[in-house]
Amino acid sequence: MKTLFEETKLGNISIQNRFLRSATWENMTTEDGHLTDKLYKIYENLAKSGVGLIITGYANIVKEEQPNHGMMRIYDDSFIDEYKKLTNIVHNYNSKIIMQVAYGGTKTKFNHRRTDEYGGSLANRMRFLLEIYNKVREKAGDKFTILIKLTSSEFFQGGLTFDETKLICKKLEEVGVDAIEITGNIHGKAKSMVGEVFDGYRIQEEGYFTEYAKIISNEINIPIITVGGFKNIDKIEKLLNETNIDFFGLSRPLLAEPDLIKRWKSGDRKASICLSCSKCRTSKGNYCTIFNTCVK
Ligand SMILES: Cc1cc2nc3c(=O)[nH]c(=O)nc-3n(C[C@H](O)[C@H](O)[C@H](O)COP(=O)(O)O)c2cc1C
Ligand code: SF4
Repeated sequence: MKTLFEETKLGNISIQNRFLRSATWENMTTEDGHLTDKLYKIYENLAKSGVGLIITGYANIVKEEQPNHGMMRIYDDSFIDEYKKLTNIVHNYNSKIIMQVAYGGTKTKFNHRRTDEYGGSLANRMRFLLEIYNKVREKAGDKFTILIKLTSSEFFQGGLTFDETKLICKKLEEVGVDAIEITGNIHGKAKSMVGEVFDGYRIQEEGYFTEYAKIISNEINIPIITVGGFKNIDKIEKLLNETNIDFFGLSRPLLAEPDLIKRWKSGDRKASICLSCSKCRTSKGNYCTIFNTCVK
């Protein structure tokens, strides 16, 4: 029997348990994307509470292109010292951290109508992703752990389908990606879509995309993470043992209760208090406005 609190490898990183804080844009950097005391505190609290691996909020890599206010940035060397400091804070508590880098201009299959070598066939449409991956691998080296977060489907007619996502995952495994996080680009609405069927599989009440992640985990041999709607540790444990999914991501439950993992580990297995209402985005920072867990 696999357990959630066992040390497990993800790429070259040893992780103390199977819980990830899925990427969460905090909207708390300075105007130019530098870290603030509030952010250091948030990451320290997550690490202290035993989250195995923390994925940062998405960080933009091009100075001129900033998809969202208050997001982390990583477009020049002025950020190195503060990310070293952040990493050291997290490592002090035996937690691990990976930065999510993002470019905001990526288009979906539906409104992506290029006719050059980046458009049309699936091979052409995945070229962009593969070129980015190959370049990162080339620069970072073989030992560096690289994860990719992918939507299971686009959940509308004419969008990317689950069959295509499966082919993309196979290709990502082949080129050397270390793990894939399966998600869905419908988070704000996922709760209202529970029970609906897309590409032959149903969106679940807890672990919205587990039906998709389950299949991918059976078809490829690199670790599969899934995220979306998890609140109950018993359900997560059951999935761990009944599927090949290896890691479980949480975002909003850790906004509502930053010490959730510690609580579960201590034996208090009550479900997360998070209501999945998505009222955790404010112009003054993204935090749980229901249980008011903003770091002061
Ligand atoms: C405030 C907020 C910010 C988020 N920021 C990001 C982000 O930067 N990158 C990303 O890939 N997903 C982001 N997400 C999505 C989460 O990583 C996660 O996939 C989603 O919330 C579903 O998981 P949950 O039900 O555990 O919250 C964000 C979600 C929330 C609520
Ligand atoms: S605002 Fe709602 S969804 Fe967000 S963390 Fe709080 S209870 Fe959860």
